[in-house]
This record gives sequence, C-alpha cells and structure tokens, in this order.
Amino acid sequence: MLPFASCLPGSLLLWALLLLLLGAASPQDSEEPDSYTECTDGYEWDPDSQHCRDVNECLTIPEACKGEMKCINHYGGYLCLPRSAAVINDLHGEGPPPPVPPAEYPNPCLPGYEPDEQERCVDVDECAQALHDCRPSQECHNLPGSYQCTCPDGYRKIGPECVDIDECRYRYCQHRCVNLPGSFRCQCEPGFQLGPNNRSCVDVNECDMGAPCEQRCFNSYGTFLCRCHQGYELHRDGFSCNDIDECSYSSYLCQYRCVNEPGRFSCHCPQGYQLLATRLCQDIDECESGAHQCSEAQTCVNFHGGYRCVDTNRCVEPYVQVSDNRCLCPASNPLCREQPSSIVHRYMSITSERSVPADVFQIQATSVYPGAYNAFQIRAGNSQGDFYIRQINNVSAMLVLARPVTGPREYVLDLEMVTMNSLMSYRASSVLRLTVFVGAYTF
Ligand SMILES: *[C@@H]1O[C@H](CO)[C@@H](O)[C@H](O)[C@H]1NC(C)=O
Ligand SMILES: *[C@@H]1O[C@H](CO)[C@@H](O)[C@H](O)[C@H]1NC(C)=O
Repeated sequence: MLPFASCLPGSLLLWALLLLLLGAASPQDSEEPDSYTECTDGYEWDPDSQHCRDVNECLTIPEACKGEMKCINHYGGYLCLPRSAAVINDLHGEGPPPPVPPAEYPNPCLPGYEPDEQERCVDVDECAQALHDCRPSQECHNLPGSYQCTCPDGYRKIGPECVDIDECRYRYCQHRCVNLPGSFRCQCEPGFQLGPNNRSCVDVNECDMGAPCEQRCFNSYGTFLCRCHQGYELHRDGFSCNDIDECSYSSYLCQYRCVNEPGRFSCHCPQGYQLLATRLCQDIDECESGAHQCSEAQTCVNFHGGYRCVDTNRCVEPYVQVSDNRCLCPASNPLCREQPSSIVHRYMSITSERSVPADVFQIQATSVYPGAYNAFQIRAGNSQGDFYIRQINNVSAMLVLARPVTGPREYVLDLEMVTMNSLMSYRASSVLRLTVFVGAYTF
C-alpha cells in the first residue's frame, strides 16, 4: 500500500498504474552479474557503479506530466500527481534502491482496506495475514480498517510485552495459591477441599469419604480421628484397633481364670463354683440346690468345690445310732467301758492357704454338770500336727489350724472331750468326729 495512493482521483490513478506497470522493474535486476549491461525500461546502465540505474523520467522526458500534474520519479517509472497531493515518501532516493516489495500496487482503499475482485474496499485481516506487529506475547485482534495488539487474560502490558499477572499476590486463595501462566489456581491443605467458589477451602469429612478407620471415625476440622470400641486400643498406625488383653493387665480381674475375648474378657470358675458379680467364684451348694446324687439313706455334705454323700447311719458296733449325727455306746455294754460314750459326726469345709493360726471350729460341751471340768484334745487324725486345740474355758475349746494347708484334702479329726468331776470321782469321754474338707482353692 502506497501512502499517497488514497489521494489520487480514480482516473488519474489508473493512468499512474499503467505507468507503473510499464516501468516496473524488480530491484533484483540490479543484482545481475557485472557482464550483463542491458537494463529494463526505466533503467539505464551506469558503468561507474556497474548497476542499472533508475532513469529520472521527470527530468529526461519533456513535459512528462501535463497541465496541473506534477511529476514524481519512481524506480523504473514515474508518477503524475495533482500538485496538491502530499508526497510523504521521498521517491527520489539516491544511492542503492531500498528493497521495495515487487509488484506493489497503489491501493485505492482507505488504510486497512483493500479492493476485492469487484473493486470494493474490504477490511484487511492484518492478524490472519501476518501484517501486524504484535509481539509473540500479544494477541492480535482484527478491527475494521486496523487491528489491535492486546494482552491475553491474566497478562498485563509492561513496556512492549505482555507479562503474566501473579494473581497470588492478591490473596485470592484461602490456603495456597499457585500462579499459572495467564491464570492461577487455589489449593487447599490436606483435609480440605476447594469450595464452590474455587477459592475458599472447606473441611473434608473424611469419615464419609472412606477414611480407613477400622472401628470408629470422628471428623474434625482438617482431619479425622480413628477411635476404637471399648476393649480395643488404637494401633500405632492410627487406624486399626487391637484387642486389649485385659487379662494380662491384672491378675485380680478374675478370682479364678480370666479369658480374653475380642473387645472384652470374662471370668471363669472351676467346677463346683459359680460366677458371682462377674469376677468372684462362689461355691455351689449342691446339697441345697438339689444338684446332688445322694440317696435317701445318705446325707449330703457340701464343701468347697463339691459335695459328699455320707451314710446317715455311721454308727459302728458297739455304738448305736441315737440321732442323725450321734452314736452312743451303751454303758450296759461291757465293750463300751474303755470307749468314748458318744461319737458325734460333724463336717466342715475350709479353703486352701488360709493364713494361720486360724480358728476353724469351736467345741462346746452340751451338758454342764456342777463342779465338772472339761478337757479337750485331738485324739486322732492329726499326725502331722496341722491342728491344735485352744481351750477357751472348761466348757468350750477352739480347734485351730496351725499350718497352711493346700487342698484338695480331707482330715477326719477325733476331738475328745473328757469330763471330770473330782468330787464324784467321775470321768466321761465323748468324741466329736470332725471331717474337715480342704478345698482346692483359696475361695
Ligand atoms: C471452579 O472450577 C471448576 C473446575 O475447574 C469449574 O468448572 C467451575 O466453574 C469453577 N467455579 C467457579 C465458581 O469458578
Ligand atoms: C469350771 O471348772 C472350775 C474348776 O476348775 C469350777 O470351779 C467352775 O465352776 C467350772 N465352771 C463351769 C461353768 O462349769
């Protein structure tokens, strides 16, 4: 596009075009080898410079332009323009010709427009035709008759270039901001996620999103916590739950045996016992509960951990039974002269490992004669001296366990009471046959 073309009236323009066509010469012509001395129309050979030189037709052709027109020399030709036309470019350039694009036609349209095939002026898309001078960092926008270089979104013009705006400097994000070419992105700390506005961070309920808690999950601000059911403890990994072995913590949890179970424990008792208040073991009184196998002719005797069926009639000749527990040796029977006059059967039960000395059984004279004196002794069944008698007064005495004994074990002690009356020179003996069951346990 020639800067002055728009100043030409239509008819003149055509003429000028013709002239240009006739005189058109490519600047390459002047680059021909030295030996080539013929020049195209409008140029002449200059032997000094060894180049084809433009002929200034305005000087060489008399009356090159007629009337009110002025002559403007041009490479390879000349133009006739109205005298009023402003000539911006100095077309009389001396020296080597500038690299003018070949086959330039004067454009009859306004700047930024060009004629189409029907010679209508249409907008030139400078952006599409790379006729713009936008920087690579800029975007070219075609406009009617011109174009615009703008910065893409997220860029700002600094000097000639578009520079990325660091949006992160403006605190757009609640947690973290990542600047990107032309934009930015907000990020959230772990445990949070971007809110609907993509800037604020909202707590993530990890419990609803499959947090790996084995048992219980509690969401909290920014994180979550795993917890375990009672009887479990959180593993070091923070997620899984380990059964607590309650039994290993204390030997006092259960009186007899502690059995650990997932999440809990239970106490067990040996046979013959029942669980009392979750940890204690209580002897089952089979005689009372009816859970015994004793016959009609037997008496059920309960002891710690079991029971015993004893014959109700335990009297052995020459003794005769006078009541359930009592056997009497009739004085009329000569065999009874050296024997205790009566034998009374009694049963008792003690636990193992009792602290000693321990009073275990009190013997009491049933009939008291005035002036009588009663003496007590262990007559049989105490060969190891595990028991002794402590006389309380002349009608009663205490059987004392002298040594700790461990069951299951059974003693049959004959406790003799000798009654003496010095005034009447009377001496009588009776025996309490005490069976002592020692249970296997301390309870
Ligand atoms: C947030 O970002 C998403 C994905 O990038 C987008 O689809 C959505 O329109 C954005 N929302 C807002 C409010 O900018
Ligand atoms: C106990 O024996 C004494 C004699 O040693 C006697 O004086 C006393 O009365 C007796 N007491 C009883 C309660 O029998």
